[in-house]
Amino acid sequence: MSNEMINDVAQLLASQLQGPVALLLGGHSAEREISLQSGEAVYQALKAKNIAAEKIDTKNDDWLERVAKFKHAFIALHGGDGENGNVQAELEKIGLSYTGSGVAASAKAMDKVHCKKIWEKINLSTPSFVELTEDSDWVGIIQQWGTVIIKPATEGSSIGMAVANTAEQLAAAYQQAKPYGSLVMAEQWVSGAEFTVAILGDKPLPPIKLETDHGFYNYDAKYIAEDTRYICPCGLSAEKEQELQQLALAAFDSVGCKGWGRVDVMQNEQGQFYLLEVNTVPGMTSHSLVPMAAKAAGLSFADLVLKILQLSIAEAKN
Ligand SMILES: Nc1ncnc2c1ncn2[C@@H]1O[C@H](COP(=O)(O)OP(=O)(O)O)[C@@H](O)[C@H]1O
Ligand SMILES: [Mg+2]
Repeated sequence: MSNEMINDVAQLLASQLQGPVALLLGGHSAEREISLQSGEAVYQALKAKNIAAEKIDTKNDDWLERVAKFKHAFIALHGGDGENGNVQAELEKIGLSYTGSGVAASAKAMDKVHCKKIWEKINLSTPSFVELTEDSDWVGIIQQWGTVIIKPATEGSSIGMAVANTAEQLAAAYQQAKPYGSLVMAEQWVSGAEFTVAILGDKPLPPIKLETDHGFYNYDAKYIAEDTRYICPCGLSAEKEQELQQLALAAFDSVGCKGWGRVDVMQNEQGQFYLLEVNTVPGMTSHSLVPMAAKAAGLSFADLVLKILQLSIAEAKN
């Protein structure tokens, strides 16, 4: 059958894949539970589109042996090795292609401090920050910025994060964040609205505005609370929305990300946007943000999954 005759995307994709997809999920990271949900949702979507897939939990020691018989992987791992480039590097060693960003971009994106340095260099707006050590000037930092948010540089899901208004709170927050990574930063608090922009291929999807009553979009607000509001269309003027999408896309590109991802952005009360971070394997549960943005752009969850897979076949990694 010629390609012209196959007008169904799923059918074409299945022929390009030349065999079932290894669907990587679970893993060891703190975000394991979410990854299991993402993986299951992706699995069901592939099944609905008649794309054969096998679920492989990278927590099991034999995962790499099991993966070796496949040609292509869908990565539904959040945080840790599945998002920081390590799994991606293993897959490359044994000749598998895979969804999303390559090894180097994954590693950079996982490190918030590294990303912020890239963005500062090319004048993409991100909140001011300082790397913390035992000897940091707690009083000076609070005097300079008032309120700060303390974050381990390489964790996700708001883990180890806290807000501080005083030197004492800052020092305590540093001690609490330390177990979650060797690098901890204090970032200037941005008071205002929060947005997230999904990127699919080389295009930003409609931004989503997030509203929470939990002070910031912390673990509870993300995964437990029922009262987080997701607003899409996000309510910005067309001009501001475009500015936000362009900023998010530039941030994604500057880190070398590919395929798909999500960029988190704050907007201060004067309307200025500030980049927080880029996620290379964002949540893919039925109520996650990228599927929500895709839906606003007219793509169903299953269409989105296919698109991510399709992009990964078309694309060379860097
Ligand atoms: N500088 C900041 N000012 C205000 N709120 C922030 C700031 N940084 C983070 N937040 C809040 O904390 C949440 C998590 O921060 P983020 O940098 O996206 O890390 P992660 O999602 O990896 O835990 C954001 O979604 C936002 O609600
Ligand atoms: Mg985030």
